[in-house]
Amino acid sequence: MKDFRIGSGYDIHKFLEIALFENAAKRLYLGGILIDGHIGVAAHSDGDVILHSLTDALLGAISLPDIGVLFPDDLKSTKGINSVEILKHAYKLVREKGYGLVNADITVITQTPKVSAYKERMTAKVASVLETDVSRINIKGKTKEGLDSVGKQKAIECFSVCLLSSE
Ligand code: CDP
Ligand code: ZN
Repeated sequence: MKDFRIGSGYDIHKFLEIALFENAAKRLYLGGILIDGHIGVAAHSDGDVILHSLTDALLGAISLPDIGVLFPDDLKSTKGINSVEILKHAYKLVREKGYGLVNADITVITQTPKVSAYKERMTAKVASVLETDVSRINIKGKTKEGLDSVGKQKAIECFSVCLLSSE
């Protein structure tokens, strides 16, 4: 009989302050895509909240230690790491446990950028990393209506849920 596993993941990163970082910081990675010209975030890796929360959802679904345990942010060897590599690693672990992705649903909460403008590219990227069809990946954006730190554009956060099935 098939076994199903659900996973949930969350991540948040602080936006850099433009005044301090000037042009060098105007690169945001989201869903494996470079949002060129958008202020970036503080992170040990490239700070991709979509890929980090999705990684934690996958790892959580198979009851493995989370992203911070597998990729500690005080390791020199992973400084600036592309989060696609982190997600790939997590999905390899999922495969090794005998599971495959059924679907993932992802909610990014941020005032900017407008996630819908990049949805297709992000979805295609995530689907290719997870070797699945785009119809199994959903990415949507939401603002925080100007409330709290995310609403004041001090941070960007993301929730992901995924369903795995045994193969
Ligand atoms: O209208 P409501 O208050 O429910 O949502 P909102 O946060 O004002 O966002 C309206 C719509 O804009 C969302 O349903 C998304 O389709 C889109 N959106 C987006 O693509 N990227 C964001 N960062 C925020 C919102
Ligand atoms: Zn992160």
